[in-house]
This record gives sequence, C-alpha cells and structure tokens, in this order.
Amino acid sequence: MHLTPALEKKYTKEQLKAPEAQRLAEFIAWGPMIFQVSRLMLKWGILDMLRDSDNGLTRAEVVEKTGLSDYAVKVLLEGSLCIGTILVDPQTERYTISKTGWFLIMDPATRVNIDFNHDVNYEGLFHLDEALKEGRPAGLKHFGDWPTVYEGLSQLPPEVQKSWFGFDHFYSDSSFPEALKVVFGYKPRTLMDVGGNTGKWAMQCVGYDKDVEVTIVDLPQQIAMMREQTNGREGADRVHGHGMNLLDPRNAFPTDRHYDVIWMSQFLDCFSMPEIISILSRAAAIMDDDSRVCIMETLWDRQRFEPAALCLTMTSVYFTDIANGNSKMYNTEDMQACIEAAGLYIEHIHDNLGQGHSIIVCKKK
Ligand SMILES: C[S@@+](CC[C@H](N)C(=O)[O-])C[C@H]1O[C@@H](n2cnc3c(N)ncnc32)[C@H](O)[C@@H]1O
Repeated sequence: MHLTPALEKKYTKEQLKAPEAQRLAEFIAWGPMIFQVSRLMLKWGILDMLRDSDNGLTRAEVVEKTGLSDYAVKVLLEGSLCIGTILVDPQTERYTISKTGWFLIMDPATRVNIDFNHDVNYEGLFHLDEALKEGRPAGLKHFGDWPTVYEGLSQLPPEVQKSWFGFDHFYSDSSFPEALKVVFGYKPRTLMDVGGNTGKWAMQCVGYDKDVEVTIVDLPQQIAMMREQTNGREGADRVHGHGMNLLDPRNAFPTDRHYDVIWMSQFLDCFSMPEIISILSRAAAIMDDDSRVCIMETLWDRQRFEPAALCLTMTSVYFTDIANGNSKMYNTEDMQACIEAAGLYIEHIHDNLGQGHSIIVCKKK
C-alpha cells in the first residue's frame, strides 16, 4: 500500500499511551454531543467572544453577551471544557479559548466540514448500516426519493445546497489556480469538463485562455443550473453544455469536435470502480494519441498532512450513506487499476495542489 511519510508514521505504529487511547474511545462514544456542542459554540459566537476578550469571560458575561440562559451556557461551557476547545482559570472562573477552539474558528476547512456534516450528513447517518450492507445511499431518503444525491442537488433545501456546494467548491476552488497552469501547460484548444457542475472551472478556463472552447458534460438539470449561473458573463459564449447521464453505459461522450483535454475534477469519486472503468473507457473511445484525460482528485494516500487523510476517508462515508452508496475517495492503487482497465495509462501525476489534490494525466495505450 502506498502511504506518504506523514501517513506511514501515524498509521503503522501505535501512537497513543493507554489514557490517551481511553479518552479517544470516549470521544468516539460521545461524538454526536461533542460535534453539536462545538458547532453551537461556533454558531452562537461564543468561541469568537472568548477569542476576542482580553482576559477571557466569566459565565455570567457569556450569558449577558449571548442572551442565552445560565443553564444553556453552563451546559455548553462545561462540555467545551471537557472537549478541549476552551480553558478555565479556577481562581477567576474566566474562560479562554484553547488551540483547538482557535482552529475551529480560524481553519476554513473545519468550518466547511462542520456545515457539511450538520446540514447534509448528520440525520441521514442513522442509516449507515443499511447503506453499507445494501450498497445504496440509505440516508438520502431523509431529503427525497432520488437514486443518488446528484439527481436531487437542484431540489435540496437552500441551506443544505449551500453547505453541499460550500464543501464541494471549497476543496476544488483552492486548487483551480494551480490546476489551470498544469492543464494549460498541455496547450488545449478544446476542453471537455466532465461533471462541470456550476461552470466554475469552465469560466476560469475561458478567462485564462482567450481562445479555448469548453464543453461541460453533466446531468441535464445541472446544465440548466450552470447556464443560469454563467449567463451573460464574459467568456460564457465559449462555454457549451451537453446534458447526459454518464451512469448509462449506452451514453457516449460528445464527438462534435476533437477534445484535447478531457477534464474530470472531483468527478470520478462519485462512482463505483466498475462505473469509473465504464466512464473512462468511453472517454478513451473518443481519444487519439494527442488527447489527454486529466483527473483531479484528492487521493487519500497521497496527503502530506494526516488530518487531510482523515477528512477524505470520512468523506467516503458521505458517499456511502448520502451520495450514491457505492463510491468513495479513492487511493492511487484503485484509481490506477481503473485507468488501466479502461485502456489508458498514467503519463504523469502532479501532486500537492491546493488542499491536497493530485492531477493524474492519462493517455491512450
Ligand atoms: C462532486 S461534483 C464535482 C464538481 C466540479 N467538477 C468540481 O470540481 O467542483 C460532481 C459532478 O458530477 C456530476 N454527476 C454526478 N453523477 C453524474 C452522472 N451520472 N452523469 C453526469 N454527471 C454526473 C454532478 O452533477 C456534479 O456536477
């Protein structure tokens, strides 16, 4: 198994002393309470107040500033103390923020993950056992009766959509500037953006290169949403849409022109390995020796920082329970197996873009 040094250090040898291990076991057991208390400490601005105070705040001051009852503030502060997001001075009974509390406030990834887990995943996770056993997104029924989350994206409640797109865009957006340099290093005149979503990447491409023509391939309802979002913007006339369901193996990629680069960003993780092979094989069918498939993914085994691998393997649980029941965040080994089974080979892997993306550049065998 491939692992970066940071992951090898953490995942191959026991790291914890017995008391730490016991505490972690209780952290797992009380995970839902720990999550919700910390989320509300953020949402109601209590962590911000503590960070911004000169010498910390007493409980009475937090009551006054928040308008919450003394009972509610006591529950939150005592819980947070034991969670480790705040500290207390027993003499003055003033509370201050801890390092972990500071990360909750300041780390944008943590914020995005909290919103995503609360709004999109939390309630549906009750059905994870069914999802794992039956290979279907059993938690999705909480929102609607779609076979996968993608068919329902445009109909999700607004706050759920906001957290879903916030999560999705946060990760890919931070890699787009570096990804543009990598992709346009291959000098494409035409680019197919498979799973192009709201057109964010496509719009950046037409802004980056004044001649490139981009065709977004996505579900028809997604193409409609993309058009709403790009309409009238500079370069939108070079962004084309092609609505199709790639889960149907009879649906071939468009051949209206030669595509120099077929771009798939955070797309293949939406599918099972047999589905990925089917999609990549159909991409290979419209490629010649000069075409490339560029796959941008966060592969969990290639992460330089261990918390990123944790976020990714946990994101797999969202795919199981909410998204589709059969896909995940893959590692290099699985992705390479799919690529080769589809008649492609890996020309190069560009690592460490943005929040930990890799771009796997593939050519036809
Ligand atoms: C996780 S989003 C990735 C969006 C974007 N490429 C990015 O990097 O942020 C996956 C995209 O794949 C599309 N998609 C999912 N299933 C699909 C299918 N069966 N056929 C076509 N597109 C699909 C979704 O509509 C969504 O736009």
